[in-house]
Amino acid sequence: MGAYEEIFKKSIENPEEFWAEAAEGIDWYKKWDTVLDRSNPPFYRWFSGGEMNTCYNAVDRHVENGRADQPAIIYDSPVTDTIRKITYRELRDEVASFAGALKGLGVEKGDRVIIYMPMIPEALVAMLACARLGAIHSVVFGGFAANELAIRIDHAQPKVIVCASGAIEGKKQLAYKPLVDSAIEQSDHKPEKCVVFQRDFVTAELQEGRDLAWQDIVKDAEPADCVPVLATDPLYILYTSGTTGMPKGVLRDNGGHAVALHWSMKNIYNVDPGDVYWAASDVGWVVGHSYIVYGPLLKGCTTIVYEGKPIGTPDAGAFWRVISEHGARIMFTAPTAFRAIKKEDPNGELLKKYDLSKFETLFLAGERLDPDTYHWASNLLKVPVIDHWWQTETGWAIVANPMGIEQFPVKPGSPTKPVPGYDVRILDDTGKELGPNEEGNIVVKLPLPPGTLATLWRNDERFIKSYMATFPGYYETSDGGYIDEDGYVYVMGRMDDVINIAGHRLSTGAMEEVIATHPDVAECAVIGTDDQLKGQIPVGFIVLKAGVTKDAEEIKAELVQMVRAQIGPIACYKQTAVVTRLPKTRSGKILRGTMRAIAAGKEYRMPSTIDDPTILEEITEDLKKLGFPK
Ligand code: COA
Ligand code: AMP
Repeated sequence: MGAYEEIFKKSIENPEEFWAEAAEGIDWYKKWDTVLDRSNPPFYRWFSGGEMNTCYNAVDRHVENGRADQPAIIYDSPVTDTIRKITYRELRDEVASFAGALKGLGVEKGDRVIIYMPMIPEALVAMLACARLGAIHSVVFGGFAANELAIRIDHAQPKVIVCASGAIEGKKQLAYKPLVDSAIEQSDHKPEKCVVFQRDFVTAELQEGRDLAWQDIVKDAEPADCVPVLATDPLYILYTSGTTGMPKGVLRDNGGHAVALHWSMKNIYNVDPGDVYWAASDVGWVVGHSYIVYGPLLKGCTTIVYEGKPIGTPDAGAFWRVISEHGARIMFTAPTAFRAIKKEDPNGELLKKYDLSKFETLFLAGERLDPDTYHWASNLLKVPVIDHWWQTETGWAIVANPMGIEQFPVKPGSPTKPVPGYDVRILDDTGKELGPNEEGNIVVKLPLPPGTLATLWRNDERFIKSYMATFPGYYETSDGGYIDEDGYVYVMGRMDDVINIAGHRLSTGAMEEVIATHPDVAECAVIGTDDQLKGQIPVGFIVLKAGVTKDAEEIKAELVQMVRAQIGPIACYKQTAVVTRLPKTRSGKILRGTMRAIAAGKEYRMPSTIDDPTILEEITEDLKKLGFPK
């Protein structure tokens, strides 16, 4: 039996023993009573009764164990022309001070704190400070509009919001504070305090009584110690797109999360303490949570916080510059970033300027890795290019090439094999298990391994409905795909209305909700279509109300603005077709799947329940005018 097979088998047959061993990688104030509490399925609990602190494990213990002077964070910001190294000792002191400041504002264990910040070290300090106090952070990605932030404020009900005065996005300077003010104005829940990290290029106005400057409150703050929490206590809520405008608040625990991420660093990424690890994502996404912040720090690595883009800051050689300048062994990003580089520098000329001799492996995730991008990246970099598949919900990889266990030959188009802990199966819609190469719903047999979602914040019912109800005994990933005869998993795409735009997860349902509020729109549908750079982009179809005389182009421009203002620029909503009707079933359900197939140029079966088949010809023509299929 190969190393992988043996480890995988043990993780599935005896998860308690397997994860108890992995838990030795974490420092506990008190060991658990039960490794896996199976008493209330599908709510499984890892390490119940155990006490620990995630911040202690990610920061303080490294200071105590000889890494005090090693950089914990390298902040590399081409947009502000800054490189700053923060040692583990400095990080501990900054986190303790900011935690003390938060404590001074009344933040206690269990309180929520929303963080709305760009890629600056203070974002990590704020997250870790919450973890230190046992408070629950909820980081909201900066590309989301005020309305999306307001939805999260109302749901998470934070005591405090921590934000930056602004961000630099490529070449644009953006003020964040007006957006935060607008979100607080729109929300019913009013946070008591708003802490603003003032940046050099934009000074936020502070509202008397509510707003405080980060720089002022840390000055005299009494450093706070780590508060022991239960392994099963929540560490964070991360909102992610579902099928409606109401995002899902994925809840992560402390203990299982720390154990799983620590284990993943060696076994999936093959890194050791002291290595430089770079995830070029954003702290607003799960990749940022797990592999900019917690994973590398739990392992005692140096994490790079990069405030820049793959192109334009200043050029398509930016990634190579960062890898070589800081000696990164590992880089992790989304395929889109590589497609953007390929477009600007197809022959990789800029790579020749840099020494990448320390660079060992490129990991990609967040969206399907198309074989073209895979071949381009691996021919150029001449290192293993490893696709791995995961979701906000799981928090770490479900399927990967486990580089620290056994490196399998890559099959382009497949993220390789199930990660130990994940019993991946393919089921048809009736729940019957399918055989090799048969495409269906990708599910994971329960229990899920540690580090995966405990539930949805204050919504156990939605947790069950979204993930556990369709296939009892299994976690429904909502991705479709198959497993081949060698056990390689192929992930073909979402089965629901979630789309992936430049590695960002968005909901077409949420866009429909916005578009439907336009006074001239009678009904609408938004679908994801293929895009060479961003993977997918949304296209809207609208039916105008009877008697509307307004110019269609004007309406389309208004819709673009509405989606930008209410969801955010990252939705990249730009294209709308005005149609006379939408294709529907006789019971009135819009046939989005059929529309998606037409846009993708895929063969489709005429739905037997379709109300009027001729409408599909009209939709085909409209899509052609917009340039689909590509
Ligand atoms: N704050 C505010 N606005 C943001 C933002 C942020 N953090 N991130 C993106 N935006 C804005 C952009 O400025 C842009 O606005 P515009 O329409 O006014 O130009 C819009 O949202 C779309 O941004 P993006 O999708 O990033 O497109 P882009 O054309 O600026 O860049 C790429 C294209 C491919 C370079 C970029 O998408 C990229 O780096 N992708 C990698 C994705 C990634 O790391 N994903 C994380 C998962 S691993
Ligand atoms: P997110 O929750 O933002 O990480 O998005 C998760 C979704 O992104 C998954 O459900 C997949 O649809 C898609 N995804 C992520 N990684 C991959 C991958 N390696 N291959 C294919 N799809 C992926």
